[in-house]
Amino acid sequence: MRLFVAVEVPAHVRDAVDAATEPLRRRQPAARWVAPNAYHLTLQFVGWVDDAGARSVEGACAEAAGSVGPFALRLTGGAGMFGNGVLWAALEDSRGLHAVAAALREAMVAGGLSVEERPFHAHLTLARAGRTTRLPRDLAGAYDGPPSGWEVERLVLLRSRLRRTGAEYSPRGAWLLQG
Ligand code: 2AM
Repeated sequence: MRLFVAVEVPAHVRDAVDAATEPLRRRQPAARWVAPNAYHLTLQFVGWVDDAGARSVEGACAEAAGSVGPFALRLTGGAGMFGNGVLWAALEDSRGLHAVAAALREAMVAGGLSVEERPFHAHLTLARAGRTTRLPRDLAGAYDGPPSGWEVERLVLLRSRLRRTGAEYSPRGAWLLQG
């Protein structure tokens, strides 16, 4: 199964972000816009694992969640892009988010799992380029999002199934932050 560990986005924030993307969606209908109920912040992409690998990931989630307490997160209201491929909503710097991402990475390495080499960059993906379209560079500047904040109380392990209509995410576990 294909797994990743993430932080959820509460409904009131999802709704506000969804409303802010509406004018951009009209401008770029060929982009692959993330459905609001799939908004999330990836802490660590895991990739394909078997049952034993999934249990190791669950162990790492439990360890990371046990070492960091709940923390506040806030969207800046602005957006950024990775090249011409990914449009994302930006977050204010959060020590808690970095701490839990680092703890998770450490626990996964200790558990013999492979982790992404690239450094953690907090972002909430809003859209990805379509197969034949690139996102225009000025799309991020056109995003006028809500500077909404919320309290992160748990991390979640999500399974991603790739469908023709886009990825479908289903929860496999959740761990309260209690460090
Ligand atoms: P994202 O966090 O930028 O949106 C499930 O695929 C999630 O894991 C996606 O949200 C995706 O990007 C993130 N992810 C991180 N690294 C990935 C990779 N190498 N392949 C696929 N998805 C990855």
